[in-house]
Amino acid sequence: MPSTSSPPDPIPTGEAITAAFAGRRVAVLGGLGFIGSAAVLRLIELGAQVTVVDGLLEGFGGDRHNLPETLPDGEIHIVDVREDGLEEILAGAEVVINTVGQVSHQRSITDPIGDLEANCRAQIHILEACRRISPPVVVYAGTRQIYGRAPELPITEAVPAAPVDINGVNKYTGEEYHRIYHEVHGLPTVRLRLTNTYGPRQSLEVGSSQGVVPTFIRRALHGEPLRVYGHGRQRRDITHVDDVIGAILAVASTSETNGHVYNLGSDRPISVGVLAEAIAAETGVQMEYIAYPDELKSIEIGDSWSSYDRLQLATGWRPRVGFASGIAATIEFYRRHPEYWRGG
Ligand SMILES: NC(=O)c1ccc[n+]([C@@H]2O[C@H](COP(=O)([O-])OP(=O)(O)OC[C@H]3O[C@@H](n4cnc5c(N)ncnc54)[C@H](O)[C@@H]3O)[C@@H](O)[C@H]2O)c1
Repeated sequence: MPSTSSPPDPIPTGEAITAAFAGRRVAVLGGLGFIGSAAVLRLIELGAQVTVVDGLLEGFGGDRHNLPETLPDGEIHIVDVREDGLEEILAGAEVVINTVGQVSHQRSITDPIGDLEANCRAQIHILEACRRISPPVVVYAGTRQIYGRAPELPITEAVPAAPVDINGVNKYTGEEYHRIYHEVHGLPTVRLRLTNTYGPRQSLEVGSSQGVVPTFIRRALHGEPLRVYGHGRQRRDITHVDDVIGAILAVASTSETNGHVYNLGSDRPISVGVLAEAIAAETGVQMEYIAYPDELKSIEIGDSWSSYDRLQLATGWRPRVGFASGIAATIEFYRRHPEYWRGG
């Protein structure tokens, strides 16, 4: 959906973002994962001193190879955030970016306790450590999945949460913890509701149970036909990880966003069928339409896309990476890095 509101201020990219992060101490939790590592690499470009914390837990998307061996002016801690000592690692952080979480909806059904650990218990440990060190801003990577089946489109932040699976409930709880730590303890948290995110450094092995884009890309790279469930006309927002990082940095650059929740979104929702066609065209594989598997039918949300007007009004953010070029560049990345999909 094209967003009609015009931003009140210049988009905080370029000089404004560089100034906001150059020389600043930023902690990225989950920083060896897909979105976390993209944040770290961008922050290094901007001259920030980055502290990475990641437990590299099995079955998650974290990968030590997502970041270089050492960081200029930064540190990598392979630590589970539920263990003691997080507070000491985070001490002095001026920005905390929290991308710790369990992403797979399917896995949340088969391992609900594991999902609870990552999306709820780990979040309390993070927030407790943050409460004690009082960083000026904590940005939480939440999900639009909390809305469940959209009662209206595009979805605004006013739509009540009605998740359809354990992952949605736990992610909403984690998001609510961030709101409560703001309201009760005055911790300046900002909550983002991300859409399906794609791009380089996403584990396609783990990712194949996380979302439609990594699933299609992995099958295409293996030369397997892309399987579209049902009619394939269900439309979704898909966001390139660079745009997600742009949103995280934008909300962290201004105190105006403290305590608020923001949707990300796209200018044009895309159907699963069209997405498959684009990836099939790029890779030369076939497509097939098959009946929706029973185990997924009950958690399918149908059409779902979000309005990002509120985020645009607050920060000027809007998605920049076009779908065709973003998908082509992503496939090119994985062709150059078969270790992400050949189990290497
Ligand atoms: N990828 C998407 O499409 C998407 C969409 C919406 C929201 N999100 C949210 O963004 C966040 C990051 O997603 P991602 O795709 O980068 O996932 P990811 O699995 O690639 O990264 C998550 C990282 O968190 C780490 N982690 C998990 N539990 C931990 C713990 N207890 N201690 C230390 N580290 C721990 C994992 O090792 C992993 O590296 C998640 O919270 C997810 O819910 C992602």
